[in-house]
Amino acid sequence: MAIERLVEPTSFSEDTEEAKLEVSLRPLSFSEYIGQEHLKKNLKLAIDAVKKRGEGSVLDHILLYGPPGLGKTTMAGVIAKELGAGFRVTSGPAIERAGDLASILTNLKDGDVLFIDEIHRLRRAVEEVLYSAMEDFKLDIVIGKGPAARSVRLDLPRFTVIGATTRTGSLAGPLRDRFGIIHRLEYYKEPEISEIIKRTAGILETEIKPEALGLLSSRARLTPRIANRIFKRVRDYADVNGDGIIDTRIAIDALKLMEIDELGLDPADRNMIRLMMENYGERPVGLSTIAALTGDEATTIEDYYEPYLLQLGLIARTPKGRVVTEKGRRHLQNTENNV
Ligand code: ADE
Repeated sequence: MAIERLVEPTSFSEDTEEAKLEVSLRPLSFSEYIGQEHLKKNLKLAIDAVKKRGEGSVLDHILLYGPPGLGKTTMAGVIAKELGAGFRVTSGPAIERAGDLASILTNLKDGDVLFIDEIHRLRRAVEEVLYSAMEDFKLDIVIGKGPAARSVRLDLPRFTVIGATTRTGSLAGPLRDRFGIIHRLEYYKEPEISEIIKRTAGILETEIKPEALGLLSSRARLTPRIANRIFKRVRDYADVNGDGIIDTRIAIDALKLMEIDELGLDPADRNMIRLMMENYGERPVGLSTIAALTGDEATTIEDYYEPYLLQLGLIARTPKGRVVTEKGRRHLQNTENNV
């Protein structure tokens, strides 16, 4: 059985209180957006060029990829805002048929940004309609059935697709080729995470002491979404068990309650490493075997658990599968008794 995770890096579904808060914390401009400096510089240039060219000029399609929680959706919203364009949001799995896509595309306005999350999960038939629309802003649809069927070509407004994916590898070549700008979002640096938590604390009018800020920043997996989630839990803890101010004591106790260790790993991460060690020792394990051991989908392991554990060097990828590294073994031994 998979363990419920506090640090689950995916978004909450849109209408919960949690999701509304998450949305309200999102920066709306490049100047508010902390980190990803290289990406921002490139995007600003592209946007300035479009603005300078004026009428009829449209921003290239953009593909953003990288681990979840690093701000792909947020960045897409900032791009639309900076362009002064409309912003439409959908996702690969939400577009079930080519007709769904046709209806989204025909409702766009000139210059709009269409954000497609998890674009690697688009169905093939939908993908084909999309890339011809991206190519020349035309929509080819078939009207009617059987011998009476005929194909028509509709003009679409000029629009920009911003696609987001955790994995570029699984994007079909022809679709990938339609993106003029392709960028990877990187893990944040710890001082940037600290700035993000400080900003969130300001918006939520919560006082956090510098030492506590450092502590939370070091355990947020270098991921803004997780930093904000942890911050909110710790804030709850401070409200219930103290005077609402987040000091070191409160931060330590709250992190202990959440079972988040000093590297930011939660029980599910440690459980995965432990199962790999117990069952395979130092030998490599295949992804599907790990998934069977933890009770997760292989894609969940690949997209959500692995990237950060690999980044930290606690596990490694070999041609024969994943192995727990010496660092991973030591971390687990040190943590098992302390959390
Ligand atoms: N909240 C979440 N991500 C952020 C970022 N990159 N900058 C500012 N605030 C954020």
